[in-house]
Amino acid sequence: MIAVLGAGTMGNGIAQVFAQHGHDVVLRDLGQPILDKALGSIEKSLGKLAEKGRLSAADRDAARARITTATNLGAVSSASLVVEAIVENQQVKCDLFRELDGLTTPETILASNTSSISITKLGAATRRPDKVIGMHFMNPVPLMTLVEVIRGQATSDASTHAVMELARSLGKTPVEVNDYPGFVSNRVLMPMINEAIFCVYENVATPEAIDEVMKLGMNHPMGPLTLADFIGLDVCLAILNVLHEGLGDPKYRPCPLLKRMVDAGWLGRKSGRGFYRY
Ligand code: CAA
Ligand code: NAD
Repeated sequence: MIAVLGAGTMGNGIAQVFAQHGHDVVLRDLGQPILDKALGSIEKSLGKLAEKGRLSAADRDAARARITTATNLGAVSSASLVVEAIVENQQVKCDLFRELDGLTTPETILASNTSSISITKLGAATRRPDKVIGMHFMNPVPLMTLVEVIRGQATSDASTHAVMELARSLGKTPVEVNDYPGFVSNRVLMPMINEAIFCVYENVATPEAIDEVMKLGMNHPMGPLTLADFIGLDVCLAILNVLHEGLGDPKYRPCPLLKRMVDAGWLGRKSGRGFYRY
């Protein structure tokens, strides 16, 4: 059984992909209304894949039936793998990893879907740092093929191999990287998104114009501001703070406009408003 912790934007996609590939999944979040919303998103996504012929009706129903939900952390104690996808906050994640270490069997691999936080620190919160690893899926999980696999200072070859193989069995392409702030994906992506936000802040152009330039000019599927809304502006700010503090270089300073939008609760698509309205 696979346990997925956090049923937000990423957790529901991760649970879905494991279930599509035959795994029983327990999806855990803090309250039942969040879990009900997540199940609704999963059903919608499975329905779309079936409509397009990428999944048979029987496989769609079987995948849905493999997912159960829980609010009690004890429900994950018999998991063979835990994938953590809760808020991008180091202290909250370290506290959870410490608790998971006491709850799960010593063989269980504890993976984090963190965008930027130190896998080494998460490992050090447990007595099994060799079994703590980054398993970083991309949004939207059912459609994106990359899984960035992050080795912490003490992550073993065996854990890395197991997670790389598991990612392949889900139809994904794993890429192994080392543990530095933001890894590869967000060290490269977030400065671009931040620079696009500075362009709005300094009135270089409207959000629509900036996105159009990057879509038509660079063939990006989404403009950087549409993508920031899609990721979540709170998540983007948390990642930029990790890059800024972790690498100590002022070039990663989050744009004041991003901070102000997060303060206002404009978190992008998930809150109904960001650079655009939804
Ligand atoms: N499940 C199933 N189907 C989905 C879906 C989901 N979760 N999300 C979208 N789809 C469907 C759409 O509904 C659409 O179906 P229709 O054709 O029936 O409308 C279909 O997939 C294709 O979507 P679109 O036509 O809207 O657009 P598209 O061809 O551009 O594809 C996309 C969508 C794959 C999301 C594409 O826009 C894209 O690649 N965007 C960039 C995504 C990206 O960069 N992700 C990485 C974010 S960073 C990250 O994840 C790391 C981090 O730590 C922050
Ligand atoms: P989100 O805000 O959509 O969801 C987070 C969920 O975690 C919420 O439902 C919240 O209730 C829950 N939660 C908070 N504390 C919890 C706890 N102690 N136990 C269980 N659940 C708890 O966030 P998200 O965008 O899904 O991001 C989750 C993780 O995935 C973060 O580490 C983020 O950096 C990473 N990530 C995000 C994206 C993205 O595009 N949004 C992409 C890749 C990785």
